[in-house]
Amino acid sequence: MIQLTYLSHSCFLLKGGGSRLIIDPFLRNNPNAPMTPEEVEVDFVLATHGHPDHSGDTVEIADRNQATIIAPFELGLFCERQGAEKIHTMHIGGSFDFPFGSVKLTPALHGSGFPDAQGMTYTGNPCGFLIGMEGKTIYHAGDTGLSAEMKLIGEFNTIDVALLPIGGNYTMGEEDALHAARFLKTGMVVPMHFGTFPVLTENPDAFQRKAESVGITVRSLAFGETLEV
Ligand code: NI
Ligand code: MN
Repeated sequence: MIQLTYLSHSCFLLKGGGSRLIIDPFLRNNPNAPMTPEEVEVDFVLATHGHPDHSGDTVEIADRNQATIIAPFELGLFCERQGAEKIHTMHIGGSFDFPFGSVKLTPALHGSGFPDAQGMTYTGNPCGFLIGMEGKTIYHAGDTGLSAEMKLIGEFNTIDVALLPIGGNYTMGEEDALHAARFLKTGMVVPMHFGTFPVLTENPDAFQRKAESVGITVRSLAFGETLEV
């Protein structure tokens, strides 16, 4: 059984396959985070792109835990320059078998860069993750708009749980997330990337009502809540 814990925004803890993973760690300076970066105990840190609300705590958590960072090539090397000791870089379309299961990088329609003293360090293409673990498939879309690629992902994979952004402004909003869920043919959607900033105006309650009226199962998780998959 996989344990999926929602740590707010797009951050999830995943326990399964004998390993502990955190995806898109953003706990420091996140008003909704139910725990601090210091409390996180993991073996792997996965980051979809370089924006601080996704990879902000990546290097700190990885190094304190001696954990391996899994990220797109450019973001992985950026983390290494920031002091990361263990990185496994990948790129879109590629998959790799880790001790806990498989990870495949999927396309995301978004940007990727980390603001710094120079203005911005660009960190390559953003991605999503298809994670195969204990016979289940979990899709973390990262930050993205609706894309036709989601149809392909749904055609070639049986997705048990899709973690989809719904907040709008920087990513898909509710309406497009419903189209994404249809494209993905997923068994269940867990909404993410809402409520953290005032500009993310769309919310999981309205999304859930709309989704269920068209037969899509939504499981909205409270911050800190765990779902068994
Ligand atoms: Ni972003
Ligand atoms: Mn974001």
